[in-house]
Amino acid sequence: MCGIVGYIGNREAYPIILNGLKRLEYRGYDSAGVALYDGSDIQLSKTQGKVADLEKKVSKEISTKGTLGIGHTRWATHGVPNDINSHPHYSNSGDLVIIHNGIIENYAAIKKELSNRGYTFKSDTDTEVLVNLIEEIKKQHKVKLGKAVQIALNQVVGAYAIAVFDRKKPDEIVVAKLGSPLAIGIGDNEFFVASDATPFIEFTNNAIYLEDEEMAIVRRNKEVKVRKIKDDSLVDPYIQELKLNLEQIEKGGYEHFMLKEIYEQPSVIKDTYRGRLLAEQGIVKLGGLEDYIQKFTHADRIIIVACGTSWHAGLVAEYMFEDLARIPVEVEYASEFRYRNPIITEKDVVIAISQSGETADTLAAIKLAKEKGAFVYGVCNVVGSTISRETHSGTYTHAGPEIGVASTKAFTTQITVLMMIALRLAKEKGTLSQRDYMLHLNELSRIPGHVEEALRSDDKIQEIAAIFKDASNFLYLGRGYNFPVALEGALKLKEISYIHAEGYPAAEMKHGPIALIDEQMPVVVIAVNSNHYEKVVSNIEEIKARKGKIIAVVTEGDTTVKELADYIMEVPKTPETLTPLVTTIPLQLLSYHIAVLLGKNVDQPRNLAKSVTVE
Ligand code: M6R
Repeated sequence: MCGIVGYIGNREAYPIILNGLKRLEYRGYDSAGVALYDGSDIQLSKTQGKVADLEKKVSKEISTKGTLGIGHTRWATHGVPNDINSHPHYSNSGDLVIIHNGIIENYAAIKKELSNRGYTFKSDTDTEVLVNLIEEIKKQHKVKLGKAVQIALNQVVGAYAIAVFDRKKPDEIVVAKLGSPLAIGIGDNEFFVASDATPFIEFTNNAIYLEDEEMAIVRRNKEVKVRKIKDDSLVDPYIQELKLNLEQIEKGGYEHFMLKEIYEQPSVIKDTYRGRLLAEQGIVKLGGLEDYIQKFTHADRIIIVACGTSWHAGLVAEYMFEDLARIPVEVEYASEFRYRNPIITEKDVVIAISQSGETADTLAAIKLAKEKGAFVYGVCNVVGSTISRETHSGTYTHAGPEIGVASTKAFTTQITVLMMIALRLAKEKGTLSQRDYMLHLNELSRIPGHVEEALRSDDKIQEIAAIFKDASNFLYLGRGYNFPVALEGALKLKEISYIHAEGYPAAEMKHGPIALIDEQMPVVVIAVNSNHYEKVVSNIEEIKARKGKIIAVVTEGDTTVKELADYIMEVPKTPETLTPLVTTIPLQLLSYHIAVLLGKNVDQPRNLAKSVTVE
């Protein structure tokens, strides 16, 4: 849950590391630090706060010379965010310096053992324990750094992506991975290491993504050697050609990544179905699915595992798969699923949904499902991510890098993929008439245009945001396909504006939440054309009778709700099955504008990180 970056080569390391940390800040931003080798010693600076705070501190504190260095941006697990707990951490001798993303679960026992041997610790972190364990092994076994790292990692339990170097041998960085991502960028006589490829994308298109339980020694002007941590065997690494470009990871003139990503939705939804949805020919073809269609059509049920926004996309998929393909679906929080001894058989298909492809709970749920014999299909955004590699097959969403911590385009592209899967299965099973099947294909291909149209209400939504920005609570209500959208709308508001918000199925309101309604309570109701339209209108009447303030998402041209609601946000008409793809747009914009008006850090909300690689 942190970002790590390192460089060894012939250029100045500091600017590369600093820039890399800025790009990785989405992974954690409660503290940051760098360690550089200046030709004779290590220059280390670290601070609580953001990378910008580090930049200021470095300019006053250390020399930034040197062609070898490592840097870290942190999301605290062990030890509160403060200067001392920030990474990098020195070993007791001051020779070794380390950065770490992950958790060493057995750190307390190791710490005790090392303390008995006279080691002292400045921080409360598990990472400082690890670097001292490496130092102790290096001394005891009289081995080089690489070997010491390997022996140490065979003793630890937990998850890690680490980079460590030795000031006495400043021509190599040792890196290793288990459970947290680590990419090695291969340049011309230079190497980059990072949690993802964004820190080095302008320098090289070639990268090795380490697999779990692999380590590498990255030496100046030499080849990278990758080994298995367990048995020391050499691995022939696969060098992947990166398709990422710089423009994709920059703000492109928008004030925030979140806004950029909201506005990218028309084009990324197109990217998601490009070459896969051939509406005129009546074809949906997903490379990862074709060979496994029978697994799905013969499955007893589909179990969807995911977290957060991806879980909400899973809930939308439950409606789609049951409605269109008539396959029973259960949607599970990955964090609950993994620990509750679920009944899974070989006749179950598990779909794991994850933007980052690194979420620890989702990953653990996948491993469990595989152990129990289920076929596991991934829906991921990040190409080459751990989840995309751990699943038997899958489909990428092709949303491009999502940097804003609050997920937006990941959600709509996940729903697009899940809808294509539902339609392909419906076609295979014959559960949809040809007419309805063709209608869905055509309507899905019109979604990017509808999203563009929904975005045109931005100014109006900003005005609504200004009216409600000081509310302390919000309720979000929806029914059927739009119940998960209500949950997602509430999550978006909570995470970036810190306003308490709850999502409910509209009909559940009278079983409790209605007690909350008074003239202070804004209630966002998704009231678009659907089978439940009249019922939702009745729910709106119930809120009105209790003086709640109604902000309704309605279909263009709606008159009934328009009369009842205090404010409306219009979206274009589309079949009910596809409405989540458009109704979610005004809710994203509403949250965004409220957070901006409140002066919150939209892209890096407090306490959060983009990918949750710890449980
Ligand atoms: O990368 P994932 O899709 O697996 O992440 C799951 C959640 O952590 C994520 O959706 C989170 O809830 C977002 N902050 C929501 O905006």
